[in-house]
Amino acid sequence: QSMSENRRTPLRAFKQHLEGLSALGVTAVPREAHRAPSKTERLGALAHEVERCRRCPLYRTRTHAVVSDGSSNARLMFIGEAPGRDEDLQGKPFVGAAGQLLTKMIQAMGLRREDVYICNVLKDRPPGNRTPEPDEVEACLPFLREQIAIVRPSVICVLGAVAAKAMLGPHVAITKIRGSVCEYEGISLVPTFHPAYLLRNPDAKKFAWADLKLVKKILGNKQPRPADRSSRGGQATSNT
Ligand code: URA
Repeated sequence: QSMSENRRTPLRAFKQHLEGLSALGVTAVPREAHRAPSKTERLGALAHEVERCRRCPLYRTRTHAVVSDGSSNARLMFIGEAPGRDEDLQGKPFVGAAGQLLTKMIQAMGLRREDVYICNVLKDRPPGNRTPEPDEVEACLPFLREQIAIVRPSVICVLGAVAAKAMLGPHVAITKIRGSVCEYEGISLVPTFHPAYLLRNPDAKKFAWADLKLVKKILGNKQPRPADRSSRGGQATSNT
């Protein structure tokens, strides 16, 4: 036999795999068995886990867990603090007054809300919208890390001190680091002010706008990723 006949080509490897299955008495495999789950499917499974989560006491007072809004193929991800009253009632992040401002900020960047990915550090509302406790952040953070690992955006924009500390460490000060390009797991990360802070301090909007322009610039400088093609019939292109 020549070298080329012995080479383990993909076809030969597949035949050997089938022969192995056959030797084990397997006569049929489900059509779906060889397909990796799509981002949407992985995020769906994660959402299911979040909805059943009891890692901290906030599950007792939630109406809905709030996981995310937007596109699983987004190149830009926004991370806020925690759901408020409106978000808890609707099960969707950033739908109250701060959310309406965030939507306007996204549109001012020339983007559509449905093309970015929006989530929070905490998935359940802290009673009375109090600031999240460190142990609540610690309990919930694995979900956020998983969301980032699945979506793999080109840029993350963190909104406010709680999200900035969760991603970069407890000692960062949002007033010091806003508008700088940081990094999380190889992804560019830009911290800016939280929209709720901007509603209370409209003078700070000009700084937030400068930060968003920086985000746009980084997005423009990065090559769009190939779309997630593992979902048949799923979104084939990434718009953001
Ligand atoms: N503030 C946040 O940080 N997140 C929301 O979803 C709403 C308000």
